[in-house]
Amino acid sequence: MPVRRTLVLVANHADASGNAPLDDLPGAGRRFDVVCRFVTAALLTSHGVRTDTDAVVLFTSPDKAKALRFRGGRVRSLSPDERSTAGLLNRALRPVAMPVWQETVAGVESRTVDLATLVSEAPRPLVVLTEQGAPDLPPLTNGATFVLGDHRGLAAGQEELLDPMADASVSLGPVPLQADQAAVVLHNRLDVRTERPVATPD
Ligand SMILES: C[S@@+](CC[C@H](N)C(=O)[O-])C[C@H]1O[C@@H](n2cnc3c(N)ncnc32)[C@H](O)[C@@H]1O
Repeated sequence: MPVRRTLVLVANHADASGNAPLDDLPGAGRRFDVVCRFVTAALLTSHGVRTDTDAVVLFTSPDKAKALRFRGGRVRSLSPDERSTAGLLNRALRPVAMPVWQETVAGVESRTVDLATLVSEAPRPLVVLTEQGAPDLPPLTNGATFVLGDHRGLAAGQEELLDPMADASVSLGPVPLQADQAAVVLHNRLDVRTERPVATPD
């Protein structure tokens, strides 16, 4: 059975106001382009959507952390281009977020949540993706959560928080990748693996 995938981007810089400027996503949007590319790379294939995947973006700034969760099986209106993805993200971010997931546009949910709570509730195993990690993915059965940093990576305090909570820290190879590229490489590794019987822990 394919492994259900939850990919989490920790976005420490992007504009979470719901008004990221479509004409200046990298600048005034504070690298909102990184978030857009991550969401499309995590969910879209050449001609469809990965229905076995949720893409979560945790916006840690400004003060109140807020997350968006794109449900691959339910999302509508997700296109591969950054501009329309930014528009979708803005629409999903605008309604006031509550401490529980609430759908704000079709297939996209928002909530207020911090990193510790988000990962403690996420499907296990919890895997942190980092260049310095181990070469192999851990055994996966039904689901797994993969955490990625933004263009500057995870903050030191976030790495310290995740270290004892994570089941594994995994490298996708020796070359440093952008978060969206890492999402594609990860999917490919999982796609190849799930063609064979999935290893189960003892
Ligand atoms: C642009 S990179 C962050 C670069 C940042 N300067 C750093 O050193 O962490 C974005 C994220 O993609 C993931 N990533 C990039 N290259 C990777 C690799 N070779 N293996 C595993 N994850 C990788 C990590 O989660 C990383 O935080």
